[in-house]
Amino acid sequence: MKQLNEAAKYLKKQYRHTPQVGIILGSGLGNFIEEIEIEKEIEYKDIPHFPVSTVEGHKGKLIFGNLSGKKVVCLSGRFHYYEGYSAQEVVFPVRVLRLLGIKTLLLSNAAGAVNPSLKVGDIMLINDHIGIDMANPLIGKNIDELGPRFPDMSEPYKKSLIKKAKEIAAKLQIDVKEGVYFCVSGPTYETRAEYRLIHSLGADAVGMSTVQECIAANHMGIPVFAVSVITDLGLRTDDHIITHEEVLHFAKAAEPKLAAIFKELITAL
Ligand code: HPA
Repeated sequence: MKQLNEAAKYLKKQYRHTPQVGIILGSGLGNFIEEIEIEKEIEYKDIPHFPVSTVEGHKGKLIFGNLSGKKVVCLSGRFHYYEGYSAQEVVFPVRVLRLLGIKTLLLSNAAGAVNPSLKVGDIMLINDHIGIDMANPLIGKNIDELGPRFPDMSEPYKKSLIKKAKEIAAKLQIDVKEGVYFCVSGPTYETRAEYRLIHSLGADAVGMSTVQECIAANHMGIPVFAVSVITDLGLRTDDHIITHEEVLHFAKAAEPKLAAIFKELITAL
C-alpha cells in the first residue's frame, strides 16, 4: 500500500485534476491516445514503483487529459504476466488509477477467436471471463484499504456498460459481438488442441491480458468495461501461422471502431 500511495502522490503532484475514467489499451490499440486532448504525459519510468513495459507495440506512458467532456487517464502500454511481472505488478497501475480517483475502467485487448462465428476484425464486448490459467492478483495478504478478502465476481464486466455500448454500436452502425474472454499466460499462442480446449470450456476468445486487471478493479468496486479485437482465428484447419505483427496489424485496422465506441461510452458515463 505504501508503494501505491507513493506512486499516486507523485502523480497527484504532476496533475491536479481528478480523472473520472481510466483506460488501458491493448496491443496495436495505442493510437487511441490521439483522441485525447492531452494535458499531461508521464513516462512510466518516472513514476515511483511503476513497472516498465517491454513488449513491442506498447508505449510506456500515462496520459492525462480530456476526452468526450471528461477527465481521463490512459495507460498507453500495459504490463503482462508473460513479461515476467508478478500478478501484483501487473495490477499495480490499476490500483494507482483507483487512488487517483477513477470511477470506471475501460480495457481493450487483441484476442484470438475460438468461437467459429467470430471473424478477424470483429469487436467483441467481453461479458465474462475465465482466468483459471492465471495467477490471481489478490493472492497474498489482502489490502483491506482496497477491498474485501473474498470479492464477488458474478458481474466482472458491468452489465449496464455493455448495454450502453451495444446501443452506441447500433447507433453508429458498428457490428459488435459479445462473449467470454479466456486469459492465458502466453507468450506462446495456443496449440490447436489448446484452442479446442478453450472453446470447449465455454470461451469465445483468448488473450494474454485483461483478467488480472479486471479482478483488481472488481476488488476495489470499480465497474469495468472491456473489449476484444479479434486478430486471429484459433480454431483453424489451414496451415496459417499466427505472428505478433499480424495481431498488431489487425488490431490497428479495427481500432477506429473501438475508438468510436469508447468515445461515445465515455460521453454517456
Ligand atoms: N492467443 C492468445 N493471445 C492472443 C491471441 C491468441 O490467439 N491473439 C492475440 N492475442
